[in-house]
Formats: sequence, C-alpha cells, structure tokens
Amino acid sequence: MYALVIDGGRPLEGQVRISGAKNAALPLMAAAILTREPCVIRGIPRLSDVAFMGRILTSLGASVRFNGGSVTIQASRIRGFADYDLVRKMRASVCILGPLLARLGHAQVSYPGGCVIGPRPIDLHLKGMRALGAEITIDGGYVCARAEKLRGAPIFLGGRAGPTVLGTANVMMAAALAEGTTVIDSAACEPEVVDLANFLNAMGAKIAGAGSPTITVTGVKELHGATHEVIPDRIEAATFAIAAAATKGEVTLTHVRPEHLRSVLDKLMEVGVEIFENGESLTVRAAGPFRPSDITTQPYAGFPTDAQAQMTVLMTQADGVSIITERIFESRFMHVSELARLGANIAIEGPSAVVKGPTPLRGAPVMASDLRASAALVIAGLVAQGRTRVRRIYHLDRGYEMIDAKLRKLGARVRRISE
Ligand code: EPU
Repeated sequence: MYALVIDGGRPLEGQVRISGAKNAALPLMAAAILTREPCVIRGIPRLSDVAFMGRILTSLGASVRFNGGSVTIQASRIRGFADYDLVRKMRASVCILGPLLARLGHAQVSYPGGCVIGPRPIDLHLKGMRALGAEITIDGGYVCARAEKLRGAPIFLGGRAGPTVLGTANVMMAAALAEGTTVIDSAACEPEVVDLANFLNAMGAKIAGAGSPTITVTGVKELHGATHEVIPDRIEAATFAIAAAATKGEVTLTHVRPEHLRSVLDKLMEVGVEIFENGESLTVRAAGPFRPSDITTQPYAGFPTDAQAQMTVLMTQADGVSIITERIFESRFMHVSELARLGANIAIEGPSAVVKGPTPLRGAPVMASDLRASAALVIAGLVAQGRTRVRRIYHLDRGYEMIDAKLRKLGARVRRISE
C-alpha cells in the first residue's frame, strides 16, 4: 500500500491542467456497450476506477483498449452477467444495468453494497427500469432484470435526497433503446448527465432537456459508434482551487469549465479568495484572512457533496465559526476525526460540521477513508506545518490523476512511499 508524505506549510504556485471527469467517464464507458460498433472516448483520466470499469466491460465480453488518453470500446457481443467480486469494488458499476437491459433484454448484476459515505441505495434505478417495463427480482444478492421489450414511460426519479446522478444516467441509457418516449422528471442536472446525453446523441439517441430536471428520451431502434471527449473534472478543479486558497497560494487551473463550478467559486469568493476567469482557465489567489461561511451540499447547481470535505479544511483557516451541512450522504464526515489529529476544531452536530477557526494545523499521520476525504487530508497536509503522512491513498488514486505529480509541479513537497 502507498502513502503520501507531505511536508506542508508552503503555498501552491503555478499552473495545473485538470483531467477528464471521472464521474463522466464511468457512465460514458458503460454507454459504449449499447452498440456493437466501436466507440472512442477521449480525454479519459488514468484512474484506478476507470481501469476497473474497463475490467468490468471486458468481463461482459467487450474489447476495451486504452491508448494514452483515450479508450476504444467495442461490444460486438456481450453477456448480461456482472459478478459480485467486480461490482462490489466500485459502486459506479451499477450503471451497466441500463445498457445491458436495453441491449440484451436481460441483466444480472450484483447488488452494489453501501460504502463508507453512506448506505447508497439503488431503489430509484430499479424504479426507473420497472417503469420502462422491466421485471426485477433480487436473487442471491443479484439484481435480475428482464424485459421482452422496454417501453418509454413517464418516470419521476426524485428521492429522499433529491435526484440521483447515476440513476438518471442508467434510465437515460435504457430509455435510449426503448420503444416510444420516456420523460424523466426530477432528473439530475449534473454536467456529467449532460455529457452522457451528448455522447448518446452522438451515437444516434434522441435525448432532449439534459441539464434540466425534465429529460425527454425518444427511443430509437439502434445506436451506432461515436467519438466523444470527456468534460473536465469539476471536482478535481474544485479540489485544486481549494488547495490553492487554503495554502494561500496562486494557481492557474487550465482545461476547466468555470460554468460547472459556480457554487464553489461563489463560496471561495465569499470567504475572501480572488478568482480570475479567462475562458477555459481560472486563476485562484488567496492571501487570507478568510471569512467563515455556512455551506450546505445540494444537487447541482448547488454546492457539491464531492467538495464538502475539501472546503471543511479551508474553513479551519477562516476567522470564526463555519457550519457545513451535508444533505446528500449521511455519513460523509469521516475526514473530521482525522482532521482533528492535525489540530482542527470541528464538532459534528447532526448533519452539520461546526468548524471553529482559525486553527494552526500541525502535521501528523492520518488515514484516508474515501476519495474526497482523502483529498481533504492532502489539502490539510499541505496547509499544516511539519510532516503529514496520508495512509491508504488507493482511495485517492481512484479519482485523482497523478495528484502527487501535479502537486509537486505546484511547489508542494509531496512524496509517494510504499508501506
Ligand atoms: N439515492 C437513493 N436511491 C437511489 C439512488 C440514490 O435514495 O436509487 C440517494 C443517495 O443515497 C443519495 C442521493 O440519492 O442520498 C444522491 O445519490 P446519487 O444517486 O446522485 O449518487 P451516485 O449517482 O451514486 C454520484 C457520484 C458521486 C457523487 C454523487 C452526488 C459517480 C460515479 N458518483 O453518485 O461521486 O457524490 O453522484 O453528486 O458519478 C465521488 O466522486 O467521490 C462520488 C462519491
């Protein structure tokens, strides 16, 4: 296992290129199995989750070839069975359900488990498939779905915590090959959903309204191969922007879509960070002091849950009390007890973290628990005086392409060691 050793206390300075979005790339790869023809996805980030999705598609019978920053997927023939040992390792693998059902009329996909950030149910995915006419049973830990013919239908996909991102993706993919028209209401509006709709349309699907709460999918008989470029990763961009601010540095992010980052940029400016936009690049500059803030995570275009942990670290440096409320995932505060080891003063009150700042952070060994919590610990390590060792960074490698190399380029003293 690898750890990152960070000698903190230096501002990040320079330029960093943001990679393609993990959360766009994974459903895009799944969508490629909707056709027998080859699909090329460019700007694919080199991440363990992406490699893993490749393995899942290979296990279904597809040919998956990575070549530099692109992947070519051809599913000439495909089988509809996805094994527990594969699916349990990555929750996003659930988004093969819709494509398999649409392509084959049946699918048997292991029921994904919960994860460290919460229980992560899939009831809305299944509700959507049922509405399209699939018969679904849960047998031996597998979701068994079958449909003679999928038929378009009105589907309300809102849940307890609002819309579902992968659920919307799954239903959109299944509906693309259904007979007739599907109208998804309370659809997720995330840019990753729009990216998927664009790819599906390039494959011959008829999808309108992606990016709004109502998506209309007019089913077509067949999809064909297409080439597509993944959108830049807004959460990686948010992470570097917050890291630049927290270390009181100045960083220019290139290959970003500022319009996907409004809620994060707005918060950063509110707490006293300067942001300069220039087309597809953004400069983040901070000298401190920072004002405290109240932040609530929400579905897009609200503040993303995937940037909550990182923002919590910045708020430890703000002058006063900040309240950070998590509304998407119930247990997404695993980073808080680790941040306390660095000296942060954070109390959990129900769904909120009450952060008292400013607190000087001091390096310590900490343990990564999930992807975004790990990113928060890295930012904290960059801020802290002295040495921080972030252990179990395989979480980080799931979602951040070459994060240590990118940070070194910005002047951080970061080393990867094997333990
Ligand atoms: N939910 C249900 N029923 C469902 C599905 C979801 O109740 O059938 C609930 C969830 O429990 C949660 C809320 O709805 O409370 C939103 O979950 P959503 O389904 O939108 O999450 P997801 O699609 O499984 C994606 C990202 C997550 C990101 C969330 C929210 C991918 C691969 N994952 O997950 O990314 O946090 O949307 O934006 O796209 C990450 O990258 O670190 C990560 C966890």
